[in-house]
Amino acid sequence: MLGGLERLEYRGYDSAGIAVVTSDPEKLAMAKKAGKLTNLAKVLAESPLPDGTAAIGHTRWATHGGPTDSNAHPHLAAGGRIAIIHNGIIENYHSLRTELMEQGVEFQSETDTEAAGHLLASFVDKGQTLAQAMRSTALRLEGAFTLLAIDAREPHTVVGTRRNSPLVVGLGDGENFLGSDVVAFIEYTRTALELDQDEIVEITPEGVTVTTLTGAVVEREPFEVTWDASAAQKGGFATFMDKEIHDQPAAVADTLRGRLDDHGRLKLDEGTIPEALLAAVDKIIVVACGTAAYAGMVAKYAVEHWTRIPVEVELAHEFRYRDPILTARTLVVAMSQSGETMDTIMAIRHAKQQGSPVAAIVNVQGSTIAREADAVLYTRAGPEIAVASTKAFLAQISAAYLLGIYLAELRGNKFADEIASLLRDLDEMPSKIQRVLDTAEPLRDLARDMASEKTVLFLGRHVGYPVALEGALKLKELAYIHAEGFAAGELKHGPIALIEEGQPVFIVLPSPRGREVLHSKVISNIQEVRARGARTVVIAEEGDEAAAQFADHLVTVPQTPTLLMPLVTVVPLQIFAHELATAKGYDVDQPRNLAKSVTVE
Ligand code: AGP
Repeated sequence: MLGGLERLEYRGYDSAGIAVVTSDPEKLAMAKKAGKLTNLAKVLAESPLPDGTAAIGHTRWATHGGPTDSNAHPHLAAGGRIAIIHNGIIENYHSLRTELMEQGVEFQSETDTEAAGHLLASFVDKGQTLAQAMRSTALRLEGAFTLLAIDAREPHTVVGTRRNSPLVVGLGDGENFLGSDVVAFIEYTRTALELDQDEIVEITPEGVTVTTLTGAVVEREPFEVTWDASAAQKGGFATFMDKEIHDQPAAVADTLRGRLDDHGRLKLDEGTIPEALLAAVDKIIVVACGTAAYAGMVAKYAVEHWTRIPVEVELAHEFRYRDPILTARTLVVAMSQSGETMDTIMAIRHAKQQGSPVAAIVNVQGSTIAREADAVLYTRAGPEIAVASTKAFLAQISAAYLLGIYLAELRGNKFADEIASLLRDLDEMPSKIQRVLDTAEPLRDLARDMASEKTVLFLGRHVGYPVALEGALKLKELAYIHAEGFAAGELKHGPIALIEEGQPVFIVLPSPRGREVLHSKVISNIQEVRARGARTVVIAEEGDEAAAQFADHLVTVPQTPTLLMPLVTVVPLQIFAHELATAKGYDVDQPRNLAKSVTVE
């Protein structure tokens, strides 16, 4: 159980707990502890839980109630006979809590989850089985939830349900599993079953039963998980993030591999959007959050240039609240590593309600966004465990390039030889990324040298702008340093006032080849900050003579066509943030206050 929780800890690490059904029909065994999973592991090392017949375990990212021992999941009900765990937010928990307290129930925590536990127990008290009680409970709940429960009197059963939060079934041999993500059980089985909204699942060692809220039995085909168990291990690296940074050449190569047929037609992984519809698309809106939204910004530059279709990029949480203009000719593209980001899920639901086709670029198979989109192009980055996104970012950009090339081909925006040339350029990217990784040592020294800096600024133009934003985000989330990314041309409109003697400024310089004007504008921006005392770190193409003159520190990347440059220029920024955070003694895989999948709005 601890192994599975360890692989899921990226989802939340405020506290953790496990409950087990033992031979006692009146009481479950349970241990839970605030803090990271290691705290729970220490408790269990001192007083191990007995072996049991069924168990549930949880790692938490606090929403209702702080990260304390009592707010940690599981939560007990029915005098310790029933235990429940929960992801998501139960929006009507307050009224449920009041109702239950009026019936004499005493609460032990400040969580919304505990209300669901006592409600479930009240249905079991009325003679319902655990599965029936879970159905009755789900019918009373509002909001987003994955719930799992065990009852000491049903010793071989775990029951679950989901609404807007993820839950996947692992089909083993004489054993079955439930997890928020397939990584929870890929050590034991790679055969999995998706669950739809509002379904109830009951697992025993012998079988799995899925029913709807009305009790109708659901038959569904299992799928094979393409990831293997070793992909969710550190593989000799000190951190998952470092391992995932080094996975990037393979993540990009795998995402690109075998994707276009002989005619340049994109092979989608799931679903379809009719070609006639794609040919008629008059606007694309990318919806995403955080790093994935920066991948969307890169996509905008490339896709607009190749297809001449206007592309908007919208933070998913802003999208549906501003009444966006959506028609049947608006292609909405959701980008998400996890496929479970609630803001992005809500954005695509809004788009579908308005009649717009939705394509998804997603990393996790069977995730909610993958299931709800009309068509899916999977990034093949493998499991990304570190909270900071790295290989998923590169894979998202690669997948977006493929989509852009496909649309350009379909709509006749590019000649066949131009498409072939773009694909050749893309094919060279994995080895170029590898070269950046192989030459990163000086950057690690620089990061250690800058460990005491209070502010770091990042500048870029064109596709270098989202790279600058991503460089700043990485530093903020990992090293807790104030960092800002700016469009380099914007500096003179205000932010240049921040520059003082010694201020570190990273500049992402575009290729001078074929983009002389763009290049020279950024060189001017470097001079402007240098003239005011900035310490410049310039990320430039090999052979860029001008860059060397204006850089206090020069980081070179292989020569690359400008639109593809983010795949190489972001890598030094990832390594810099990783190294600096490590030098400060921080846990780079699990930065404070964050969770990998943000499954609440
Ligand atoms: C970046 O390092 C973060 N982990 C975060 O910005 C992330 O990219 C964002 O929350 C979106 O997640 P998703 O790709 O799983 O939807």
